Amino acid sequence: QITPRVFSGIQPSGNLTLGNYLGALRRFGKMQDDGIETIYCVVDMHAITVWQDPAALRNQTRELAAAYIACGLDPQKSILFNQSQVPAHAELAWILNCVVRIGWMSRMTQFKDKAGKNAEKMSLGLYVYPALMAADILTYKATHVPVGEDQKQHVELTRDVAAKFNHDYGVDFFPIPDPVIEGTGTRVMSLRDGNKKMSKSDPSDKSRINLIDDADTIAAKIRKAKTDPDALPSEAAGLADRPEARNLVNIYAGLADISVDDVLREFGGQQFGAFKPALADLAVNHMAPISSEIARLLAQPDEIDRILANGAERADAIAAPILAEAKQIVGF
Ligand code: ADP
Ligand code: NA
Repeated sequence: QITPRVFSGIQPSGNLTLGNYLGALRRFGKMQDDGIETIYCVVDMHAITVWQDPAALRNQTRELAAAYIACGLDPQKSILFNQSQVPAHAELAWILNCVVRIGWMSRMTQFKDKAGKNAEKMSLGLYVYPALMAADILTYKATHVPVGEDQKQHVELTRDVAAKFNHDYGVDFFPIPDPVIEGTGTRVMSLRDGNKKMSKSDPSDKSRINLIDDADTIAAKIRKAKTDPDALPSEAAGLADRPEARNLVNIYAGLADISVDDVLREFGGQQFGAFKPALADLAVNHMAPISSEIARLLAQPDEIDRILANGAERADAIAAPILAEAKQIVGF
């Protein structure tokens, strides 16, 4: 019999974006009230797959913890902790490295996207990142993994790893976790290129909206967002070949928590000159309280460290026995 359990993580690799907010953070707080155990992680071991300045990484870890809380995560109801503080992640990752096939890793599109033509020069950690992510999820026997679209392939790999482990060792040990990818905000695109995702890991994209941007900055970025010259359509089908327009409408729907059709019922037939200011107002009103709450929390770093330490203890209490059993199964 399987206990439902939610796990997800975010890398402390820079400024959180509107994409992280709509695709992940905002949804995490909502899940903790459904009587399910929710475990959320600052995945600092994933962050170092690309170079991180050590002092900056430490600050970013606190910033991300503060952002989780500012976006609605309650550290009493959920477990909030830092990946590197719970040794089971690294230990299980090694076991899973020996279960995953190299060919499976080679099919991961995110590595190809991040590495581009420089694959040989990337860290080995970046290449095997999905095995660590599988360990993150499986060391809690998590059943539900809320993520954005871009992580779907990695959760599918986790399912394959769990099934292969169970099969190879003839056990029914790891539950097969389901990705939870719902709503309009699961794929927020760049404001300068509607075919590229908005990412905090892409420092060259100055158009991205950060969770801590002030009101003027958010408004300016939306004003400058790439669009086309046409008015908004009155139905979602009219957005099919208009990635930039579709993205802005999706963002509006995500922030307002309404459907794309509802947005188009209100704005269909209008020009971006009218829609963009409405979107900017919505975004500013939504995000200003979050960024001031992040600032308030960051003024008490000891309190954040205390929350993370408490979370690590509770996470370890779940993970360590599962790891111990996995080791036994393997023959250690
Ligand atoms: P990033 O890709 O911004 O570096 P992470 O890899 O740490 O962020 O992802 C953290 C979470 O945010 C994941 O669930 C991911 O799917 C989600 N996410 C990241 N970018 C976007 C986006 N543009 N739209 C929707 N969700 C996103
Ligand atoms: Na990502």
